[in-house]
Amino acid sequence: MTTITKTAVDPQTELQPALFYASAREGMKDFLEAVLDDPEEGVLLPAFIGWSANEGSGVFDPVLNVQARAGFYGLNGDLSVDVEKLIEMLETQKFRVLVVIHYFGRTDPRIAELRELADRHEMLLVEDLAHGFYSSRGEGGAGSFGDMNLFSLHKMFPVSEGGMITYTRADLVTTQQSTRPALAGTILSYNWASIASARRRNFESIAELLRSLPEHGTEFTLLWPELGDGDVPQTLPVRITGDNRDAIYRGMNEAGFGMVSLYHTLIEPVRSGFELENDLSKHIINFPVHQDVAAGALGALVASFQTCLHIK
Ligand SMILES: Cc1ncc(COP(=O)(O)O)c(C=O)c1O
Repeated sequence: MTTITKTAVDPQTELQPALFYASAREGMKDFLEAVLDDPEEGVLLPAFIGWSANEGSGVFDPVLNVQARAGFYGLNGDLSVDVEKLIEMLETQKFRVLVVIHYFGRTDPRIAELRELADRHEMLLVEDLAHGFYSSRGEGGAGSFGDMNLFSLHKMFPVSEGGMITYTRADLVTTQQSTRPALAGTILSYNWASIASARRRNFESIAELLRSLPEHGTEFTLLWPELGDGDVPQTLPVRITGDNRDAIYRGMNEAGFGMVSLYHTLIEPVRSGFELENDLSKHIINFPVHQDVAAGALGALVASFQTCLHIK
């Protein structure tokens, strides 16, 4: 006999366990310790991963900490995965975990194919949404392909520490444990939809102002011409043509504009053999688009950029 219960009672229906940590890297380490039977099973990562003396490397440090074998694959100039090269690499090399980074909150355009590739090679897929918390809450699909998704909450909310790991495969949660469970309440205390709209609006406004500069296309280019429908940016990345990225960074920060240069130095294992990624790391700079950025300040932000573009 067919019956229907009055309320949902099956705890497994659409279950996606969420675990909270001091940082995304702490959660990634917890994940790797649980899923790798042997560190030699290996983790495959993109070749554009930043390092700094203060912060180390967010996604690579946990791989080092568990002493897992690491491999690296190349990207295209817009930071999307070079899928064809990755396919070729996987013909001869084997890894247990494939990490895809949705850089600066932009969903990798071929994430669905990467899911299929992970299945074909029996790899667990990690969607690194360190920059993409809000993109993963929209309709764009980011976060719906990974077996595990990682989020850096201190990059997206006004908190000094915080990381979240969600599992679309609940069976992968065995020994893992939250270390900062109270963060669930913190992030539920913000209006995600309004924050997402503010970030998208700031991105669109800055992009429009940048496109109207005479230096656009020669002195600098936008990494992405369009913001994807479901994407909510962490920052707006620009590629500086000349060699004055660091001078622009310093000049604008001294003028009071919080530009970031997240990937100014790459981790040691990718410093050779990945020319495109190393070249990009010397030329990329990111504009702030976060929820505290006032629309009225954007004209001055872009004017400062134009001035600083001419510092040599
Ligand atoms: C792409 C990416 N993944 C993961 C992380 C790790 O984030 P957290 O600082 O929360 O450990 C970072 C930040 O360093 C990052 O940029």
